[in-house]
Amino acid sequence: MNRPKTYDMNTIDTYDFKGKRAIIRVDFNTPLDENGKVTDETRIRAAIPTIKKVLAGGGSVILMTHLGRPKKNNDAKYSLVHIIPTIEKLLGQKIIFAGDCMGEKAAQLARNLKPGDVLLLENLRFYAEEEGKPRGLADDASDEEKSAAKKAVKESQKEFVKRLASYADVYINDAFGTAHRAHASTALIAAYFPNDKLFGYVMENELKAIDKVLEAPQRPFLAILGGSKVSTKITIIEKLMDRVDTLILGGGMTYTFMVAQDGKIGSSICEPDQFETARSILAKAKEKGIQVVLAEDTLAANAISEDADTKEVPSNDIPDGWSGVDIASKAKVTFRDTILKAKTIMWNGPVGIFEIDKFATGTKAVAEAVAEATSHGAYSLVGGGDSVAAVNKFGLADKVSYVSTGGGALLEYIEGAELPGVAAIRK
Ligand code: 3PG
Repeated sequence: MNRPKTYDMNTIDTYDFKGKRAIIRVDFNTPLDENGKVTDETRIRAAIPTIKKVLAGGGSVILMTHLGRPKKNNDAKYSLVHIIPTIEKLLGQKIIFAGDCMGEKAAQLARNLKPGDVLLLENLRFYAEEEGKPRGLADDASDEEKSAAKKAVKESQKEFVKRLASYADVYINDAFGTAHRAHASTALIAAYFPNDKLFGYVMENELKAIDKVLEAPQRPFLAILGGSKVSTKITIIEKLMDRVDTLILGGGMTYTFMVAQDGKIGSSICEPDQFETARSILAKAKEKGIQVVLAEDTLAANAISEDADTKEVPSNDIPDGWSGVDIASKAKVTFRDTILKAKTIMWNGPVGIFEIDKFATGTKAVAEAVAEATSHGAYSLVGGGDSVAAVNKFGLADKVSYVSTGGGALLEYIEGAELPGVAAIRK
């Protein structure tokens, strides 16, 4: 992958923000609990240096983001009102909330910004124009109706983008987590700022960290891939096979690999249509001399709950009625030994259902081993919502080299895709 080093240009370090209004696309798509309280501040915390840089340079800031996947305007559950306290706490100042991202009020608040002010626009996805996809179509809509609705939203999207752009003098994209989406605020708005479009620090740091891992890894290079399904990880596994020396495959996909090699997995998660893929991954790894490590033993449970009964069994001999929910004692040792040998580590996806404490000890052991390897000089990149949540849960986020704010964006970048949000700045 010989992609341009996009972060070598268009950075905010050399830009003069004095008296300028900067509209920053951030990715504050953060998890909320049932009371609407932010449960993981990682993405908000990550964007603070970019915001502070603009303010310190004498500018004002307009923040825009999506939250969740609302399907209608003003869906209170997805209002950014929920994240205001967290932004204010991490930024150390009060912010102004527009209550909408369109409308005269938002425009007026943007016009009246003074140096040092921060204005937060309401959830961009309250408008179909952000994603440029029609909403509210009847299930039985005809092809003509669908295509007319698509055309209409694309048309009104132009006004939407123009309006957002009119609020500011300079555009900064700092939303790495959303860079794989070709949306109004990530890919289209940049065209209105041909000489004033920049990457924020999150973007710059993410691209540098991932390129460091992909392009000049210290060896051995280990990738740890977890998660439940082979089907969602197959492209990244294939891409990484051109780069890594060792591959730890964990999580639910372990059991597809076990059955593909004639194992017995009880009621564990399994994708029969991926057996062939699993076999070909193992064959290709052998051909390339890549060591593939699968958990030799499994913590099996008779239910997916905190009060389930559990027992340790071989991963390829799980009794009927029991499911694999985590790695077990022997695999913890093997995984740790493998991790400690690595000089570069990329980790995406937990190795068990770590949200349930009883099934979290395997993922914790992996997180601890990654932290330990890092303390001995390895470079470690942890990415993907669940693995980041895991390192946060175990208090190890500051013990790894880099925690990515990207989930899908990280995977697509590693797979070699040109991310629309990155391309729009570079163009
Ligand atoms: C993410 O959480 O991966 C980003 O915020 C993008 O969200 P999306 O998958 O809803 O587009």
